[in-house]
Amino acid sequence: MSDNAQEVNYVKPADHQKFVQDVLCANGVSRENATIISNCLLQADLRGVDTHGANRIPTYIERIRNKILDPAATPVLTQVTPVAASVDAKNGFGFVAAHLAMTRAIDMAKEFGIGMVSVKHSNHYGMAAWMVQQAVDANMMSLVFTNSSAAQPVWGGRTKTMGVSPLACGAPGGTPERPFILDMAPSVAARGKVYKALRRGEKIPLDWALDKEGRPTDDPAKALEGVMLPMGGPKGSALSIMMDVFSGVLSGSAFAGHVGGPYDFTKPADVGHFLVAIKPDLFMSLDDFRSRMEYLYQKVVTSEKMPEVDRIYFPGEIELLNKEKRLKEGVPFTLTEIKNMNKEAELAGVEKMKYT
Ligand SMILES: NC(=O)c1ccc[n+]([C@@H]2O[C@H](COP(=O)([O-])OP(=O)(O)OC[C@H]3O[C@@H](n4cnc5c(N)ncnc54)[C@H](O)[C@@H]3O)[C@@H](O)[C@H]2O)c1
Repeated sequence: MSDNAQEVNYVKPADHQKFVQDVLCANGVSRENATIISNCLLQADLRGVDTHGANRIPTYIERIRNKILDPAATPVLTQVTPVAASVDAKNGFGFVAAHLAMTRAIDMAKEFGIGMVSVKHSNHYGMAAWMVQQAVDANMMSLVFTNSSAAQPVWGGRTKTMGVSPLACGAPGGTPERPFILDMAPSVAARGKVYKALRRGEKIPLDWALDKEGRPTDDPAKALEGVMLPMGGPKGSALSIMMDVFSGVLSGSAFAGHVGGPYDFTKPADVGHFLVAIKPDLFMSLDDFRSRMEYLYQKVVTSEKMPEVDRIYFPGEIELLNKEKRLKEGVPFTLTEIKNMNKEAELAGVEKMKYT
């Protein structure tokens, strides 16, 4: 245990989950929904996506305090056709609505080969990969889309217009340890990485963002006043528009830059999502699909390496290796981050998050 604000301390998975659940329940979330949310945040922190883990708790609770997120909302599902459903999240946690949506999409895919669910009036659902993993655990392929608040310009523009909205998809692998899980923001880096650098007093690479004058910056505070840069120029810009078409326009939620930001405590976010589950054994047996995935995995990871590369990874593999390590060692947080999260435990009158 250290008193140095930036030194890293470790939190056991069970203590992480207990802290998140207790704080959520003290703020009006049911135990059942708190279990879903705490599991999603723990998965993010275990996978090394610590931009979207328990560090988000203070801002989520601030939204509840400002009455712009309903902690007790129950999402309502409407079956539209045998393979399509819609969920009205009723301004509750995005995790809860998206979990319900993926559960229904999987059930439809089991019966009909494919299931798609559109979600409206939702909130931030954190790391998209947790829904892809939910599908993989049920032997399903998936597409997981969301829109988000304006943070990056469209190609050729200079003001925040589109969200840094992640595109995620996945498929079961040849073995359970080797699924394909792609989860990527359409920007050079997720904006959460800029917030993380700000929290930790670190600089950011110059190609991530522009300041409000349109100049490249390595200062996270200036980057947050400016815009995130799309990856791959017009292609990253088009992907963020694609997320808005499928998640915002199609669902009936906010779109075209009108989604409320996670750090804007003045209005509901009104986020939209779009989730699809697909049965991988529609056109061949599951065994054949898995052995073809294993062949693909081997082809990728044994590809001839560039001189400076030690190892080639399959999409999602680095995160699964992080998870293996963190399940043993615990989740690393700086003391500042732990103190910041524990302020919520104090306010809620529950036990603080334990760390070593
Ligand atoms: N809910 C929201 O509104 C929101 C918004 C933005 C980002 N996010 C989340 O932020 C997270 C981070 O996004 P990101 O774009 O910064 O991710 P990233 O750049 O760290 O990773 C993107 C993808 O590339 C793969 N990858 C990374 N390095 C690799 C390597 N060396 N070899 C092979 N594959 C590799 C990863 O497995 C991942 O699938 C995601 O989980 C995303 O869902 C959420």
